[in-house]
Amino acid sequence: MENEVMCVESNQGILSDVSSGKIPIFEPELENLVTKCIQNQKLQFTDQIKDVLEFAEVIFICVGTPQAEDGKADLSQIDSVAINIAEHLNGYKLLVEKSTVPIGTHIRLKNTMSLHLKNKVDFEIACVPEFLREGNAVKDFLNPDRVILGIESENSHQLLTSIYKDFECPKIWTNPATAELIKYASNGFLAMKISYANMLADICEVTGADIESLIEGVGQDSRIGKAFINPGVGYGGSCLPKDVSAFIDIFDQHKVNNGLLKEVESINRLRPQRIIAKLKSSIKNLENKKIAVWGLAFKPNTDDVRNAPSLEVVSRLIEEKTTVNCHDPQATNQFKKAFNRKVDINFFDDMYESVQECDALIILTEWPEYLGANLDQLKTKMGTPLIIDGRGIFKLDEVQKSGFEYKAFGLTENNN
Ligand code: UGA
Repeated sequence: MENEVMCVESNQGILSDVSSGKIPIFEPELENLVTKCIQNQKLQFTDQIKDVLEFAEVIFICVGTPQAEDGKADLSQIDSVAINIAEHLNGYKLLVEKSTVPIGTHIRLKNTMSLHLKNKVDFEIACVPEFLREGNAVKDFLNPDRVILGIESENSHQLLTSIYKDFECPKIWTNPATAELIKYASNGFLAMKISYANMLADICEVTGADIESLIEGVGQDSRIGKAFINPGVGYGGSCLPKDVSAFIDIFDQHKVNNGLLKEVESINRLRPQRIIAKLKSSIKNLENKKIAVWGLAFKPNTDDVRNAPSLEVVSRLIEEKTTVNCHDPQATNQFKKAFNRKVDINFFDDMYESVQECDALIILTEWPEYLGANLDQLKTKMGTPLIIDGRGIFKLDEVQKSGFEYKAFGLTENNN
């Protein structure tokens, strides 16, 4: 790809890191890509919006739209970028919303810009939502299933055609409102698949149906597909939880029934508690017990713990006066920052050390090293061989053969 890019970042710590090719988060392949682009003089960084306005005709707005207290998307960063751009605008620009924003944000952006323009200059708005996943960001970005381009003019069409010319996937040209909606509709659908799978796991637990064959049997239908129907401790991260919540609010604002989305959210909210319930069905009183927790990140290949099930599970264990031993290959530091309580938690670099004399092991993230865990070594270290598996990473017969009591979503209690 031959586009030249200049990024503007106001946080001086992040700016100094990324300018030298250092990526402040754990994201496979990203550091290599950024370093290569800096070396090839295709990528540069600044803390001044006016530098970018002099450099480029097309500006992608990629700021965060976190969840506000009332569940809506907080658009304050979008507003502040719009004001900053408007005040420095020096000639025609196409502003592209890349951030996930509620329907109608392109109009809000246009109005905010118009209010703060210092000179009479033309600008246009487009919406090109991003669908990459954390932990797979580079691959997903370079090989998307589709690119959605929400535009309002032929000029925007030409500019974006040139930028996206090397992407061979389907390109769907539409208007900005539809592009904004496609992003929420996609994340809402993914969340719905997960909550549906979790609902199926719950019915398996009480009927004795086999969750693994069930998922296989349902997923083999090409209209349904096998992706994103793995039951477990629920969806976390900085996207699905906040986007489902903001999507619910969009329906509320327009007085359109959103019961389906509310149920998706409520099924998900209960998953971490169900881990504790599974643990308590084996250990009634958790006081002074020692429990190991493997997996603090909301999913593998990231150090992100935003809305990670680990935050709630560890909190509940602490409330039960349990000694908690945590392990994660990447996310320990982020967890320490995010876990906003002054309590003693033990953190381990070695996953086997973390289970030493523990009464149970809870698994919350399917990191590859956990999938390959040596069950015999685990059993020797643990005080009691009990595994509560929030991601279903082991085969029941294998763990049972190794002498473990094993509880996972979708398995009946009398399997054990
Ligand atoms: C999600 C979407 O998958 C991306 O397409 C989108 O671009 C991104 O949000 C965004 O809006 O920026 P991400 O948050 O990185 O990406 O993570 P996912 O891979 O979607 O996983 C989300 C959560 O669902 C994780 O906690 C994962 O463990 C859980 N999950 C996923 C399940 O519980 N079961 C599954 O079958 C799949």
